[in-house]
Amino acid sequence: MTIVILGCGGFIGSHLIRKLLSDSELDIIGYDVNDYKIHEHLLHPRFNFRKENIYESTSLETDIEGAYSVVFLASLCNPSLYITRPVETIWSNFLNPSKIIDLCTKYKIWLTAFSSCEVYGRTLSSYVKNNNEEFFLQKERETPCLLGPTVNTRWCYAAAKQLMEHYILANSREKDLPFTILRPYNFFGPRMDYVPGVDGNGIPRVLACFFNALRTGNPIKVVDGGSAKRVLTYIDDAINAIFKVILNPDKSIGEIFNIGNPENEISILDLAKLMRTTYAEITGKNKYAEHPIMNVSARDFYGDGYEDCNRRVPDISNAKKKLGWIPTIDLETTVKRTLEFYNNKYKLANID
Ligand code: NAD
Ligand code: UGA
Repeated sequence: MTIVILGCGGFIGSHLIRKLLSDSELDIIGYDVNDYKIHEHLLHPRFNFRKENIYESTSLETDIEGAYSVVFLASLCNPSLYITRPVETIWSNFLNPSKIIDLCTKYKIWLTAFSSCEVYGRTLSSYVKNNNEEFFLQKERETPCLLGPTVNTRWCYAAAKQLMEHYILANSREKDLPFTILRPYNFFGPRMDYVPGVDGNGIPRVLACFFNALRTGNPIKVVDGGSAKRVLTYIDDAINAIFKVILNPDKSIGEIFNIGNPENEISILDLAKLMRTTYAEITGKNKYAEHPIMNVSARDFYGDGYEDCNRRVPDISNAKKKLGWIPTIDLETTVKRTLEFYNNKYKLANID
């Protein structure tokens, strides 16, 4: 059986390919415009890589028609780009994905689509100050999706992902598309992002921003005091969930799963502090434990149109019940393993 993975050369895709090649017997057809994160797999006999833009491919329809399942990862998913490149953000998260959804619908091929916890937007607790669980715990089929005003283009990604989900659900309802929707919560781990000025430019996601501050000696910048909270999910835990989805269509088709570790909630300010003490431990250099942390406004850091998700805690009872999935990697281990990888990869640039 062949699985088609769209966006296989990215962070999640690179870990998923490794897992599928080592622990399953599935053949893989993978599409990506980049292959630098998956070099080691390119010659594997069960991996057929197509280095091309999926929306310009002439083989995509045939590949989808013959697939056991399609896993759809490809997207632009970096918050700074929601502000500077909103048109591309909307194309890559809704307008273009609708073509993949149409193809899967045409051939009735099971589509596993990557949405995001960002579809929930802000929590009720950010509008109505209340710390009761029902004001912040996010349940796939119950919690409302609350986005800020459209002039804040930060929300264009979340809105596009919401529309992608609606289009999948509509095609399932009217045209029997078999689907699974996954909503990841801040996966952390090796190969997550580029480091600015080394292998990319601009503002990456928070891990690479903070790591780059540590390695270059610049202050860690926390946006608006770092009061926003995230749950960090170690990539191995996340991949185990995705693997269980792929191997269990009977338990996954028709489902929406939050994939996140609710035990690993942390404020961004505390993440900055945890990363600097962990980095001191890894490098054996105490000075990193006191690395400067600087407050910056969202407008100065991202530009006009940014607004933050204040908090997002997943209810994962559906994944627990249907898949038997429970994340096990705690916050400290998540940060330590990720930083070890980054330090190892980029250590030549360390400044003493
Ligand atoms: P990523 O940016 O690392 O990977 C995406 C890959 O898709 C990249 O390698 C990119 O080159 C490829 N791609 C994009 N457009 C393409 C096109 N037209 N043709 C061919 N290749 C294309 O992202 P990721 O972190 O692996 O995330 C994957 C998916 O999961 C995305 O849909 C994202 O929205 C979703 N998601 C991820 C997280 C997370 O924590 N990483 C959280 C929430 C949602
Ligand atoms: C991310 C992205 O939208 C997607 O990759 C994905 O869909 C989703 O969330 C996810 O990973 O689940 P976000 O968590 O806001 O969004 O992105 P990060 O760049 O990781 O930022 C996290 C927090 O750190 C935000 O509050 C941001 O303002 C803050 N931040 C970021 C800083 O304080 N300093 C920085 O240098 C960078």
